[in-house]
Amino acid sequence: MEIDRRHFVVGTAALGTAFVGLAGMSTAKAALRPLPILPMTDLIKGFDKRVSLNLSQSTHDFGTGVKSNTFGINNSYLGPVLRVKQGQTLPFDVSNSIDEVSTLHWHGLHIPGDVDGGPHQQIDPGATWSPNVPIIQRASMNWFHSHAHGKTAQQVYRGLVGVMLIEDDESISADLPKTYGVDDFTLVLQDKTFDEVGSLDYTLTETALDDGFIGETLVVNGAIAPVAQLVPRGLVRLRVLNASNANFLTLSMATGLLNIIASDGGFLASTVQTGSLTMSPGERYEILVDMRTTEINQLIVSHALPEFGKISDFINEFNKRGLSSLIGKLLNEGEVETAALTLHQNNEPGLDASMPKTLANLSPPDPSTAIATRSFELNQYTGADLGALAAAGDNYCGDGSAMAINGKSMDMDRIDENVQKGDTEIWRISVDDWRHPFHIHGCSFRILSQEGEQPPAYAQGWKDMVHVDGEVWSEVLVRFDYDAPKGAPYMYHCHILEHEDCGMMGQFTVT
Ligand code: C2O
Ligand code: CU
Ligand code: CU
Repeated sequence: MEIDRRHFVVGTAALGTAFVGLAGMSTAKAALRPLPILPMTDLIKGFDKRVSLNLSQSTHDFGTGVKSNTFGINNSYLGPVLRVKQGQTLPFDVSNSIDEVSTLHWHGLHIPGDVDGGPHQQIDPGATWSPNVPIIQRASMNWFHSHAHGKTAQQVYRGLVGVMLIEDDESISADLPKTYGVDDFTLVLQDKTFDEVGSLDYTLTETALDDGFIGETLVVNGAIAPVAQLVPRGLVRLRVLNASNANFLTLSMATGLLNIIASDGGFLASTVQTGSLTMSPGERYEILVDMRTTEINQLIVSHALPEFGKISDFINEFNKRGLSSLIGKLLNEGEVETAALTLHQNNEPGLDASMPKTLANLSPPDPSTAIATRSFELNQYTGADLGALAAAGDNYCGDGSAMAINGKSMDMDRIDENVQKGDTEIWRISVDDWRHPFHIHGCSFRILSQEGEQPPAYAQGWKDMVHVDGEVWSEVLVRFDYDAPKGAPYMYHCHILEHEDCGMMGQFTVT
């Protein structure tokens, strides 16, 4: 698993320089920016009219002192956190006030294809899409984002992302932190690039099309990291989404281990303790931090930097732009590390509960229940000229035919697979190169193998994302229970959004 094979390698001497030039500025003992708390709409309490979500253009200061042009959902950047409950049906009115076609996809939801919000449920500028979305599944952290074919990468980058927290009877009565913004925090992590004036930048180069768009600056809920938050003396819950376009994030704690309680599709069988956690774009994990024993703890995030030939070019570029302070501590191999979130205990009493031993009833996945195996090969290299595509200059992936799955680029008019409703199948995913996060709509699945190995304990619960790399395939055990007919098929795709837009996506029906 060499994810850094195309990135530069920094020698020890150069690394020393990097520390002085960059880290010295960013970790200066200045007061940290407060963690922004995304506005929360609690739909569990009920609603007396349809729930409006408006996609709009806006401006937002990420912390550079400059207003960037952004998109938001009822907000200047990103959207609300919706709190909903299993059994509800949510009547949404999604209106489009940006001047391009968009859609709003409910990533992670077990819902029929016609309300899934994929590329077929286009919302034209000025139009409103009004799906009634049933919440059928167990407690889990889900999200929603633009899925307009060919435009997803740029629209998500600019801010069309929100979060949906599903609760159920068990999660509501569980002894877990659940006071939003007090001991229960939603963290949307993203990597960004800022230009010389400190404005959000999205420029597709050949490299950015090839690897996906990689930024140098980590942003938490729309604020440049590091950020800080006061918390009570008790357990604290972090519900984390990696909403980066392409970057894998590696999480750890400054003190002690990560206590992971949930993955994409809900609670794990029991708390998994681990030193580090790798999150691809699209993945969600929930983490508990025990703030009874420490007064301060930090969530550490490391990720790849944009590709530069040499570390000195990278440093020069950022010094030139006067933006060195946006970057965390440079690590070896073109990685950067940021103490993304500092938690300070405020000595007020919090949830005094033990780390949960039993969270969910999860039996191991049984591959013998599968009646078929389907194979998918993600094709990053189809011979398409990515340099020419980038030079077209509109920061989109052209007609979306540069990448493919099983040799075919995404075609809105072609159904690639037909699945029988209620059948359990094995989906085997391989790649021609690089590391890709694969996602399937309309379901949660269990990972049988990931990159040729048993998945780490924290990825052994319900998932809708799996990592695929190298010469060996990954396999998931999946069942589809809802209808997705020909006019409203589900998607499967790479969640590196530039790859998805470039055609690394396919469509399937469930009937
Ligand atoms: Cu998160 Cu098809 O999407
Ligand atoms: Cu999805
Ligand atoms: Cu990909």
